[in-house]
Amino acid sequence: MQQAASFPVIPELAERAERVAPFIVMDVMNQAAAIERRGGSVVHMEVGQPSAPTPASIRAAASRALEHGRIGYTQALGTDSLRERIARHYQDAYGVSIPAERVVVTTGSSGGFILAFLACFQPGARVAITAPGYPAYRNILIALGLEPVAIEVGPETRYALTPELIARAHADRPLAGVLTMSPANPTGVVMVPDAIAAVAAECRRLGLWYISDEIYHGLTYEAPATTALSADPDTIIVNSFSKYYCMTGWRVGWLVVPERMVRTIERLQQNFSISVPYLSQVAGEAAFDAVEECEAIKAGYAQNRAFLLKTLPEIGLGDFLPVDGAFYIYLDIGRYSNDSMAFCRDVIEDAGVAITPGLDFDEGRGARTVRLSFAGSLAECEEAVSRMGAWLKRR
Ligand SMILES: Cc1ncc(COP(=O)(O)O)c(C=O)c1O
Repeated sequence: MQQAASFPVIPELAERAERVAPFIVMDVMNQAAAIERRGGSVVHMEVGQPSAPTPASIRAAASRALEHGRIGYTQALGTDSLRERIARHYQDAYGVSIPAERVVVTTGSSGGFILAFLACFQPGARVAITAPGYPAYRNILIALGLEPVAIEVGPETRYALTPELIARAHADRPLAGVLTMSPANPTGVVMVPDAIAAVAAECRRLGLWYISDEIYHGLTYEAPATTALSADPDTIIVNSFSKYYCMTGWRVGWLVVPERMVRTIERLQQNFSISVPYLSQVAGEAAFDAVEECEAIKAGYAQNRAFLLKTLPEIGLGDFLPVDGAFYIYLDIGRYSNDSMAFCRDVIEDAGVAITPGLDFDEGRGARTVRLSFAGSLAECEEAVSRMGAWLKRR
């Protein structure tokens, strides 16, 4: 019989969990909070969420349900009525017909990624993402024992993956899937329909899963964004109520998945969370009827965008892509600094403007980029430009 150890054995934390990096933007938020605690003023352009409250009609629907409803579990895949409403949205917004059975309600798109990755990929599978890109992709993949393959993209492909880039990475070592987003965070770039169709066709040719993050749909300033479902009905769509509908805190989103994957996802969701919070599902259903309020909020972003596109070059921050969608401007600050962390620290300390270092989005080239979010008010954008302009002059 084995003897029990006579001294305490300290268990190790899981290596793959330890490899998950923090969001640098959270550190910026902490720095901003510290300045505010000592009475300083900070204009917030770091956080990727609408500053507007959730539209009143959405809150009213949830309030009614709170007063009268039985707040219980729902079906793991979501309430029938919300799944039907989401399916109808695809017809109304894109002219694409999908059965409600293929819709899965999730805890934000964040919950959707976990379900989709687990349903699609074997342990160790390689999944292509972009650099720059949304940092959680990489971290969720690592936490699940998968391998993110960050492919550097630049202005030559409008910051998007192309069939050539995918084929090259696959030839290097086989991929199992490809993840794109449009409009993108942090670049604001929208993939045109042909670019999406080309990626979908390449994934088909190579036998890869294609996952399309469409969380910023609705927030476009030129042409509307296309759903990858119109290119290939087998694409996995990830979406959310967080951004266009101003519902980040409700934690509700959805997936559209191929029919053969529905039962697998249902089993995963049953075991992980049983169901998405009921009140948030009620709110999500009401969101589709809050378009007038959402469009008014979006008109505010459009004003902020126009102001920044005009004034940032005037203060010496003109090196960015045209912002097609979302509410971000991704700036090259290379003429001022090769250390975006230090640059952001100085901007917040000396100018009182919080912005995010590009290293959150691109571990290599992010040392010379920063992201500004214009999801606040025009007055905040004006103040930020005035403060940064004066700071850059006296630097
Ligand atoms: C590109 C992208 N995808 C997904 C998310 C996650 O959003 P949520 O979980 O609130 O739906 C975000 C949040 O900033 C994002 O920028």
